[in-house]
Amino acid sequence: MISSTDPTTANPIYFHDYHPTPSDLRAEVLAGLGRPRKQLSPKLFYDAEGSKLFDAICELPEYYPTRTEIAILREHGAEMARRLGREALLVELGSGSSLKIRVLLEALQPAVYMPVDISSEHLQLSAQALAATFPKLEVHAVCADYSTPFELPVDDHSHPRAAFFPGSSIGNFEPAEAEQLLRRVGTILGPEGRLLIGVDLIKDRARLERAYNDAAGVTAAFNMNLLSRINRELDGKFDLARFRHEAFFNAEQGRIEMHLLSTCDQDVDVAGETFRFREGETIHTECSHKYSVEGFHALAGRAGFQPEQVWTDPEQLFSVHCLVHRP
Ligand code: AVI
Repeated sequence: MISSTDPTTANPIYFHDYHPTPSDLRAEVLAGLGRPRKQLSPKLFYDAEGSKLFDAICELPEYYPTRTEIAILREHGAEMARRLGREALLVELGSGSSLKIRVLLEALQPAVYMPVDISSEHLQLSAQALAATFPKLEVHAVCADYSTPFELPVDDHSHPRAAFFPGSSIGNFEPAEAEQLLRRVGTILGPEGRLLIGVDLIKDRARLERAYNDAAGVTAAFNMNLLSRINRELDGKFDLARFRHEAFFNAEQGRIEMHLLSTCDQDVDVAGETFRFREGETIHTECSHKYSVEGFHALAGRAGFQPEQVWTDPEQLFSVHCLVHRP
């Protein structure tokens, strides 16, 4: 459904709003806090404040993934564009500020750019800014939760289809969910559609843990904002002084885990329900899985994708893969 276009730019921007309703947030939070091991989905981080904090994380000296991925895109953008083909209908999953696609747009020259993001305000602002810089580009901004099935708002098969999924956001899904998500991307792309995807690589524990425990405390603020969001939107009564951020590498599972740890025994009311916390008990808020190149290829293969090419940086911190959908 087209809900708005922007009259201030030459090219049309179509905004399609599939935004999850507040009742989804309430149901998800109550279910997550009601589990024996309390857990909230990392997609709940991204309200307007959370999206701003995430942008700040990307600038941190300790958080290597963003700048490393951008360096890889800058260095190999022309080759990536050759793989993806020109005049494509290009879908970006979790587009955020659309910063990374800017590196590639000149080379890619897509016919249609379709950023998909859960944060409505952020999506609209970035789509407008992007359309202003690329006045010939048709932009369809889709506000949706890409972790659940959704349909593209444009049923146009006259262009080759390509998808861009940067930032190692695939790592925020359990491997089985990641496989399912890739299958859905495959359905959107159709046979021979290309997926360009950024994947963080397994590396030493110290480097990984520094990236999620930055000295300036931005990642801690990002994690804690989830409690503020619940307070704001669901009449939650979390006392932020009684929780703290925790992030560590779980080597057995190959993932960084983020938690919010209760520093004392306490009861917290949320949306009319009371939840009991023991001292040291945590709410598990995020997993960030790290892969080897081979490990990721195996996962992609199970979802119907074949690897075409992989680019990494000299330190082997991060990888960008071009996959082709051949189910
Ligand atoms: C979005 N995602 C890939 C980030 C990550 O590294 O897992 C989210 C993040 N969490 C803490 N810092 C960054």
